Amino acid sequence: MTVRLGDVAPDFTAETTEGTINFHEWLGDSWGILFSHPKDFTPVCTTELGGFAARKGDFDKRNTKIIGLSVDTLDSHHQWKGDIEETQGTALNFPLIADENRTVADLYDMIHPNALETLTVRSVFIIGPDKKVKLTLTYPASTGRNVDEIVRVVDSLQLTANYSVATPVNWVDGGDVIVAPALSDEDATAKFPKGFTKLKNYLRITPQPNK
Ligand code: BEZ
Repeated sequence: MTVRLGDVAPDFTAETTEGTINFHEWLGDSWGILFSHPKDFTPVCTTELGGFAARKGDFDKRNTKIIGLSVDTLDSHHQWKGDIEETQGTALNFPLIADENRTVADLYDMIHPNALETLTVRSVFIIGPDKKVKLTLTYPASTGRNVDEIVRVVDSLQLTANYSVATPVNWVDGGDVIVAPALSDEDATAKFPKGFTKLKNYLRITPQPNK
């Protein structure tokens, strides 16, 4: 099944390293990140899982839960945890789904057979508190993800969900933002007391409104 932006994230119940989880119930009112890795006991995946675990505090601050997945068994996940802690210096501190029968992988189209025949690629789904998919990313097995980028995207999604703005190229939290094109200059003046700079009729820049 293809999961597209704006779709309700498919719900499921799965076995994880933190017990059985019903995805929508587990998400509750939080934002969520569901991400897959190809295989336990592989090098890039080991660094990624440690990398996500090291940033758990940053996701917590953003009211964002994270959950990983591969088609390995629960037993394999539990054995691998020790290697992650030993080599990456951070213990696994979020649930890992054991999707042996590929139920979740199929629901989210995480297996791309022309890239990796039977394993999940590095998919990322960011889900809003309304359970709708806000962002998807797909990386090949050979390229580890950048957790800074995923945190940055959460910041942009949360900001643009609450203010009539968009974030420009290479934006990071605290940087200037773009006034939503749908706003008139008059409405923008009312909404953004710090003012805005009009570079073009369609390109108006304002300081980040919640800073
Ligand atoms: C890795 O994590 O290094 C990896 C996993 C599956 C295929 C290739 C690389």
